[in-house]
Amino acid sequence: MYCIKKVTDDLVWVGANDRRLAFFEGVYSVPAGVSYNSYLLLDEKTVLFDTVDKAVRQRFLENIEVALNGRKLDYLVVQHVEPDHSAVIPELIRRHPEIKIVCSARVLQFIKQFYDFDIDSRVRLVKENETLNTGKHNLQFIMAPMVHWPEVMMTYDSTAKILFSADAFGCFGALNGALFADEVDFAKDYMDETRRYYSNIVGKYGSQVESALEKTSALNIEMICPLHGFVWRSNLSEIVSKYMLWSKYEPEERGVMIAYASVYGNTENAAEILACRLRDKGIKTVIFDVSVTPASEIVSAAFKWSHLVFASTTYNAGIFVTMEALINDLAAHNIQNRRVAIIENGSWAPASGGLIREIMGKCENINILENNVSIQSGLKAAQLSDIEAIAEAVGKDFVSPAGTAQNNQAVPNTVDPITMFKLSYGLFVLTARDGNKDNGCIINTVMQITVSPVKITIGVNKANYTHDMILKTGKFNVSVLSEGVPFRVFQQFGFHSGKDTDKFAGSGEALRTSNGVRYLSEWVNGVISAEVKEAIDCGTHTLFIAEVNQAFPLSRDPSVTYQYYFDNIKPKPQPPKGNKKGFVCKICGYVHEGDTLPDDFICPLCKHGAADFERI
Ligand code: FEO
Repeated sequence: MYCIKKVTDDLVWVGANDRRLAFFEGVYSVPAGVSYNSYLLLDEKTVLFDTVDKAVRQRFLENIEVALNGRKLDYLVVQHVEPDHSAVIPELIRRHPEIKIVCSARVLQFIKQFYDFDIDSRVRLVKENETLNTGKHNLQFIMAPMVHWPEVMMTYDSTAKILFSADAFGCFGALNGALFADEVDFAKDYMDETRRYYSNIVGKYGSQVESALEKTSALNIEMICPLHGFVWRSNLSEIVSKYMLWSKYEPEERGVMIAYASVYGNTENAAEILACRLRDKGIKTVIFDVSVTPASEIVSAAFKWSHLVFASTTYNAGIFVTMEALINDLAAHNIQNRRVAIIENGSWAPASGGLIREIMGKCENINILENNVSIQSGLKAAQLSDIEAIAEAVGKDFVSPAGTAQNNQAVPNTVDPITMFKLSYGLFVLTARDGNKDNGCIINTVMQITVSPVKITIGVNKANYTHDMILKTGKFNVSVLSEGVPFRVFQQFGFHSGKDTDKFAGSGEALRTSNGVRYLSEWVNGVISAEVKEAIDCGTHTLFIAEVNQAFPLSRDPSVTYQYYFDNIKPKPQPPKGNKKGFVCKICGYVHEGDTLPDDFICPLCKHGAADFERI
């Protein structure tokens, strides 16, 4: 019986799950199964995106027939020829001989290598950025070589704003009835398997993944449909931010992964003692026995943690077999940017440490501690200091650098407002919507606080009408202003109250993110859409902590900083005519004439207080 799921009104998931596969690609255990995703677009033309593995062929073919509901299949877009996605193409051709295969020249070459059917008569070759109109939808093809094979191509449906991402953003694990990542506790239940999938399948090709991310960052993507795992329709940054870290080989967490190979428990003993000493210093640790834990899990952990310790006995004058396999695996997967420590053991000729050092030393930006722990059979009391020395050396990386102020130097015990301006504020248009009312204001405090999920804080003055709207609706957008923005934008959003003005009057087309809130597209280099999770009352302001569920770039122009605004945008204050005395608002340039400025004075234009005025 068929088993299909609706993705959008005219897109259907026609893939299938496999829980009987022992080893994906013959090497990676998949205890929770794996999904093979295929998507059928039912536009004026029908378009199938890839096929599935032969293990789920029958279900897939049933799914297509049901989803087509008697229509013919016009196009098959082949994005990746690895047989877990292409095995059913020959059968599909037999059933739908009218089909046109849309693919790149490299895909065509690989199809010919794997299969023998007549493709030349039905192929439609596409190149980078070429498009295909299928009725309502416009498909744009984006080459993504080495993510994960050289022929890989992605497809962007610019009508529905969907990226069909091939292997990218996929994960191990069957879907278990869900289809969308937001239907499950992804961070808790699937992120580890997503990292294991990424690190082992495409981890070697970080620079190519970066190129693909760069290309797709220019697109307005609202949904990602990968070939394995879940469809992303919200909080896309949760997965994209991980790919940005992984592709650069940047660790996700600061802490120490210890992998040991031990025959009789003595090397394990040293690893355990080191873990205890590190924990004593408050450093997170994880330990793996490389003879027990599958290498793919340890490779994945190595992509996660900042520091790696390898403890191995010597075996046949070399590295113990399972450790040797792991070290070579890590080197093959291009592991980089890590601090490494080594413990070796060897009853008569310890050699594993030097050999591990040699292999890891060839990896890019791997900093190996000089401290050497060399055990001959069992760890002796005198060697505990060697273990402690490693813990000390690693521990130094986890100590916050001391402040630059001299501890013995007297500094004023006051709050200097000028010092507060040293903080590198930006400038943003904060927008909200309540019912049919759109509104916005200027803020200067937006900060990212977490990566997974992506959370930000914004500080908003309670006097702003936008503040009240956000407090009520829990939704807002941040449009990041870029250099070149004219002063009138600050006047438009910063110098009036939304209670009695329409701040978007004359702003042209009402552009909205998926939460329905407006955003600015001009003089803005990026838009962040978020949902409030917590509101903290800070007196004059409220600090909102919010989860980002959409973020996309609009230009490469640099962001406006507070300093840039003062130096380049804000009009220089003009002295009052006729030698009058007065005070000028440093924020907007408003001039208050007179000898004195009351302490509770509020700028009638920008609503900043007396502290932001200076005497002319
Ligand atoms: Fe899921 Fe690279 O194939």
